[in-house]
Amino acid sequence: KIQKIEAIEILDSRGNPTVEVNLKLEDGTTSRAMVPSGASTGEREAVEIRDGDPKRYGGKGVLKAVGNVNSTIAKAIENKHFNSQKEIDYFLMELDGTDNKSNIGANAILGVSMAFARAKATSSSIPLYQYLGGGNAHIMPVPCMNVINGGKHADNTIDFQEFMIAPHNASSFTEAIRMGEEVFHALKVVLKSKGFSTGVGDEGGFAPDLKSNEQAVEMILEGIHKAGYKAGNDVSICIDPASSEMWENGSYKFFKSSQKLVSSDDMVKLWESWVKQYPIVLLEDGLAENDWEGWKNLTEVLGSKVELVGDDIFCTNKRILQEAINKEVANSILIKLNQIGTVTETLETIELAYKNAYNCFVSHRSGETIDTFISDLTVGINAGHLKTGSGCRGERVEKFNQLMRIENELGKSAQFAGLKAFKNAL
Ligand code: PGA
Ligand code: ZN
Repeated sequence: KIQKIEAIEILDSRGNPTVEVNLKLEDGTTSRAMVPSGASTGEREAVEIRDGDPKRYGGKGVLKAVGNVNSTIAKAIENKHFNSQKEIDYFLMELDGTDNKSNIGANAILGVSMAFARAKATSSSIPLYQYLGGGNAHIMPVPCMNVINGGKHADNTIDFQEFMIAPHNASSFTEAIRMGEEVFHALKVVLKSKGFSTGVGDEGGFAPDLKSNEQAVEMILEGIHKAGYKAGNDVSICIDPASSEMWENGSYKFFKSSQKLVSSDDMVKLWESWVKQYPIVLLEDGLAENDWEGWKNLTEVLGSKVELVGDDIFCTNKRILQEAINKEVANSILIKLNQIGTVTETLETIELAYKNAYNCFVSHRSGETIDTFISDLTVGINAGHLKTGSGCRGERVEKFNQLMRIENELGKSAQFAGLKAFKNAL
């Protein structure tokens, strides 16, 4: 039985307000959950309610969402018993009554959903990853670390949003993190020696004013080499250009490095040449959310070579994923809890993905908190890989720290995913 639920307005990693939910069960168990927030959001994401009051936080306050937890939701769920995660999440969805949670707010609902999951796990004396994924949870993920930031996440000259390193040739997650950090620090030296800035962007990656998008990959390759690793063999590369942000009247606009316009076909050719040239194992949002034709083409050209992840195009939504499965678009889906708004719907989307041999790539948001829910989710569903920032910034490394704790706790049963985590990499 839920005894008490209370939300407050706290801050995320960008200094913007977000929702924190504190929950107490009748047996005395307490839990806390904090909700993240994106910058390059998909159009079909569940609705994050912001106050829009220009006098507070430039309109970004979340007092309405907080109020919805403390009034509507509290009134409906306090002193009520829920047998399962599914039961409470479906109850919350009905209470909201809309398709996209625009009534109560996905930020309000998700906070409650996550806090309930955490409290139930604690009260049943099982780790959260087991509560979410069952007893078979044991695969430790490859950390895809976003070491160069561009796009909407940094004020620099790079159009593409994320350049990630994937240290896959490791014996454990903990060792993979060490490799990733060594490359991250070597990259800093490389950038500095060439006179580039080593200040970081929203997700903790460097945000230098490079001459081109290609140069970002080349800097990373130098960093990998400098750290004593072999690109491709030990550490590979993942890219998320977040190309919905570049989509303009049916083509792609390079809005930072140049002002050139590129057709969908030419974007596919660009990715084809990048995959030939560089040790890329994963490409997320290579095309825009409204370019389904292009996505079909991209999947035909590269779908058997690399992991093609849909983020903005799928929004962790099982109905949209089903459409993609029918149309043979992509081979992997990005998993962000706040795109859909409850733990149960997230797990349902994951189940549908696995049933259809799609991979699941678990993700943080660019506006994060120190909540480590996604670390447990990643192990819970044996996702094999996640992205949660670069090698610095507390809200990012705390996810890695939680994964190292989980690996330690799993002991001998922990198994590092390695290169096979990536679709078609072997
Ligand atoms: P967002 O970016 O959290 O700003 O949406 C992350 C991503 O595009 O993967
Ligand atoms: Zn993305």
